[in-house]
Amino acid sequence: MSNMIRVSGWLFASLLLASAPTLLGADAASTSADPRLIRITTAHSELVLFMGDDGRLYQLTYGSAGLPVSVPKRAPSREAEFHPQYGDGFICEPALQATHADGNTSSALVYVRHQTTALDSGVSLTRIELKDRFYPLFVTLCLKSYGQEDVIEQWTEIRHEETGAVTLYRFASSAPILKGKEYWLTQFQGDYSREATLAEEHLGPGLKILDSKIGVRASRFRIPSFLLALNAPAKEEVGEVFGGSLAWSGSYQLAFDLDWNNRLRALCGINPFASQYHLKPGRTFTTPAMLWTWSDQGKGQVSRNFHRWARRYGIRDAPQPRPVLLNNWEATGFKFDEPTIVSLFDGAKEIGAETFLLDDGWFGNRHPRNDDKAGLGDWQVNTNKLPHGLSYLAAEARRRGVNFGIWLEPEMVNPASDLFEQHPEWAIRQPHRELELSRNQLDLDLSRPEVCEFAWKVIDDTLGPNPGISYVKWDANRYVTQPGSTYLPPDEQSHLLIDYNFALYDVMARMVQKYPRVMAMLCSGGSGRVDYGALKYFNSFWPSDNTDPRSRVLIQWGFSHFFPASTLCNHVTRMGKRPMKFALDVALSGALGVDMDVRRLSPEERKTLAAGIALYKNDLRELVSQGDLYRLESPYDGPRAALNYVSSDRAHVVLFVYQLKPNDADQPVKLRGLDPQRHYRLREVNLPQDGSCQFAKQGQVLDGASLMSDGLLPPTHKDCDSSVIELVGEN
Ligand code: DGJ
Repeated sequence: MSNMIRVSGWLFASLLLASAPTLLGADAASTSADPRLIRITTAHSELVLFMGDDGRLYQLTYGSAGLPVSVPKRAPSREAEFHPQYGDGFICEPALQATHADGNTSSALVYVRHQTTALDSGVSLTRIELKDRFYPLFVTLCLKSYGQEDVIEQWTEIRHEETGAVTLYRFASSAPILKGKEYWLTQFQGDYSREATLAEEHLGPGLKILDSKIGVRASRFRIPSFLLALNAPAKEEVGEVFGGSLAWSGSYQLAFDLDWNNRLRALCGINPFASQYHLKPGRTFTTPAMLWTWSDQGKGQVSRNFHRWARRYGIRDAPQPRPVLLNNWEATGFKFDEPTIVSLFDGAKEIGAETFLLDDGWFGNRHPRNDDKAGLGDWQVNTNKLPHGLSYLAAEARRRGVNFGIWLEPEMVNPASDLFEQHPEWAIRQPHRELELSRNQLDLDLSRPEVCEFAWKVIDDTLGPNPGISYVKWDANRYVTQPGSTYLPPDEQSHLLIDYNFALYDVMARMVQKYPRVMAMLCSGGSGRVDYGALKYFNSFWPSDNTDPRSRVLIQWGFSHFFPASTLCNHVTRMGKRPMKFALDVALSGALGVDMDVRRLSPEERKTLAAGIALYKNDLRELVSQGDLYRLESPYDGPRAALNYVSSDRAHVVLFVYQLKPNDADQPVKLRGLDPQRHYRLREVNLPQDGSCQFAKQGQVLDGASLMSDGLLPPTHKDCDSSVIELVGEN
């Protein structure tokens, strides 16, 4: 890493001298040398900020790079302030609201200095220091630009040197203005088993809030990611679209404020609801990062930007192939013993799965984990079920050429557990309220240091003595409904959900640091925790307990807007009783896994599964995991879904088509992202065991241009028909 290649910066003192009102004449196109402008630039986008002659920091534009920027005659109106503050004349939604130690409720931030540091490979960090005009309150806006990926990451650091605590009531990570004629917002909402459902709406004047107030498993009802299309509803390949994703696993707020000048401000960050934070002098409050990307090539490009960014910076070990998992949750639930598990290893070997993942139910002795009513918190192997322990199981798996992984839920406790009997005060709860259980469990209070240490020991004491464990599924099955801590003092109860999530990241970071080779899946009762705050510690995530492939097409479609295919664990199960080929084809478009008792399948089904897994490992995994995604036909708009992945050299392509409603009309699928000049040989893969193939162009060679303009007819007509077509470049 060549840190600190270029440093630029200057002081507000010199600006004040140089920027007397007379200097700011009529609006004029600025040059990049204009010292009043701060430009945050990526390959195609640019955010331009302006230091007004009143000392405040304003936003001029965010959108296409390279457009001329008019320098305002004088300080713009306060509505254009880049990081608006409450009080002192401002009347809109603030990004910062702080009450000073003396009770003054206003802030007045002015520019002090900024510095841009070029980091490695097209990445640069600009730190803009602001200070209250009177109080020693310092706010640093941090903007990291990822040039090649067209992503801008923003977070905010707040500190002060007042005589007592400053109370933060609002503390957005980022609050840019997104300027268009009209605005369409797409959220990804849902609930358990119907996650990431797209819902697009036209924004009218006023405030629209997407949020979570539940602290843990916080994206149960919607993920902290959205699309904002300018001037028309979001389309795949055309139009201006912003994508936003908050890297935070706790309660969040995404507030869209459309003002009387038709200016849309998007205030994004930790949810300030019931979360005022008393910041002590000398301490720094660092907000989570907000990730932005912009494209005038539609939401397809927005997704590809996020995926490329994630593969380079956002997720663990992106180049490492995700193993084909065989999970036992759907097959056995809590009901298993050692011989059952060992016999499942044989099935894993037979179908070519690479890692066996032992799910919930392996621990607890005085309170055995035989259902979800007991045992959480008691992380000792259940000696009745598994008398020889975890290392024995890992060794048995290895003897069959299969790796071994384990399920953990370190943040939770059942009241029926040794842990709760010993430490009832470790649970999140409120005095004088009847304890409210969800899935018979409580959240542990990670704001308490001993609890944090306990959660870390759950991981360390499981992985340390059992070096054969190569994979962890980290689950979290309840959210917070009674936010109270016996650790935090009365005036800091409102810190609980914030402190919890920062502490959670510390535990996750320790896991990655001490066990860098143990891969990890992020899970939360389905996908109640999916965000780039947690994903940097994980290789992939569990999108939903709904593994019916018909539903999964939609769920995977939703998540694909922000997260690359390698992060989506797509497991083949018998849920919905769909044809095995359809279930496999749906799962092949992400990180393939299986969740069933392979021995109960017919020999035919086992062969189908084994052939699909072999195809995935040999031909498709690298392409799907590292390729660029093009969503071709949305399951929301028609009877089928279609998508293709393209390798970086455009020589290798795979097309997936899933028929969700019958359709007899011959409708070609038009591919995208191909090299128009190149000739591709077409081959339908994952064919039935008898080798029959209905694809009319099987084995033919077509050029990229005609595949994109005329398309090809997939052999899918009936509900749950599916087709996977591989294209290999010949020149
Ligand atoms: C919820 C997860 O989503 C499931 O996959 C499974 O791991 C169960 N928890 C186990 O309790």
